[in-house]
Amino acid sequence: MIIKLIDFEIKGDERGSLIALEENKNVPFDIKRIYYIFDTKKDVRRGFHAHKSLKQILICVSGTCKILLDNGQKKSEIILSSPNTGLLIESMIWREMFDFSDNCVLMVIASEYYDENDYIRNYEEFIKICTISNI
Ligand code: TYD
Repeated sequence: MIIKLIDFEIKGDERGSLIALEENKNVPFDIKRIYYIFDTKKDVRRGFHAHKSLKQILICVSGTCKILLDNGQKKSEIILSSPNTGLLIESMIWREMFDFSDNCVLMVIASEYYDENDYIRNYEEFIKICTISNI
């Protein structure tokens, strides 16, 4: 399965809703970094990379967006539209993000600090590494 979803428990009461994220509890790794993508312009498609070892959870905390995941053998698409749904992306998964709604805020929880050396930004190289590791 490429699409791995995590349902976060909503601590809701008459005032509204709250979700808490905790490392190695409902987030299945050490949390080293959090970033968010917002104000995305119309028709933008971003991502276009895989990570050698980074794990991430994507949460669309506001609005909606679509994510394409590709493990080198199979591609799947999912719409993220709920702040209590996390998309777990393990290492060696190619991802593209697109169809961002105007109000979309896509929050990303990451297992490592930013490291350009962990990126595979060339799709052919990604497929080559997938093929070698499947032999
Ligand atoms: P980029 O990798 O192009 O984003 P996306 O994968 O969503 O298409 O990142 C945009 C810029 O932000 C680029 O200059 C690298 C920088 N950046 C950081 O400095 N720290 C980070 O944690 C991330 C994810 C990106």
